[in-house]
Amino acid sequence: MIMNNPRTTEHPVDSMFTDRWSPRSFLQDPIPPEQIAILLLIYVTSTLRFRRSGEINRWHGFDAGAAWMSLALQARRLGLYSHAMGGFDRRKAAELLNIDDREIQIHAAVAVGRRGDAGQLPEALQSREQPNTRMPVSDFIVLI
Ligand SMILES: Cc1cc2nc3c(=O)[nH]c(=O)nc-3n(C[C@H](O)[C@H](O)[C@H](O)COP(=O)(O)O)c2cc1C
Repeated sequence: MIMNNPRTTEHPVDSMFTDRWSPRSFLQDPIPPEQIAILLLIYVTSTLRFRRSGEINRWHGFDAGAAWMSLALQARRLGLYSHAMGGFDRRKAAELLNIDDREIQIHAAVAVGRRGDAGQLPEALQSREQPNTRMPVSDFIVLI
C-alpha cells in the first residue's frame, strides 16, 4: 500500500495504475523463487523482424512497451516494485544476453524488487522517492 499517493485522477481509473510507480530505493532481500519465476523479464528486448517473413516489424517497440508495463503492473500485484532504466551499457548487455543487437533491440533494463528506505538514496533523490504527479488529460489529448 502506498502512503500519501499524490496521483489523483480526473476520471475513474483502476488503482492498479495509480498505485504503480518507480521507486529508486530497493531492499537487499531476495525475491522468493516462486515470484522470480513470474518476473523473469529484466531486460526488455524486441526482435526487429517478423520471424516468418523476415520483414521489418514496425511495431516491435510498441509491443515491447506494452510488455514492460505488463511486467510493472504484475510486479505491483505481487507486492513488488519496478523501475525501468535506459542508462546502461548496451554492448555489455548484448554480450551478457548473447544477442545480436543489430537484430534484437534492448530497450530498457528493469529493476524489480521490494521497496527500500528513501534514506539510503543520495540526498538529491530522497525527496523524489514518491509517486510523481500526472499531467491533466487536457495537456495531451486533442479532441478533433
Ligand atoms: C525506457 C525507459 C528508460 C528509463 N530510464 C531511466 C533511467 O535510466 N534512470 C531513471 O532514473 N529513470 C529512468 N526511466 C524513468 C523511470 O523508469 C520512470 O518511468 C519515471 O521515473 C516515471 O516514474 P513513474 O513510473 O513513477 O511514473 C526510464 C523509463 C523508461 C520507460
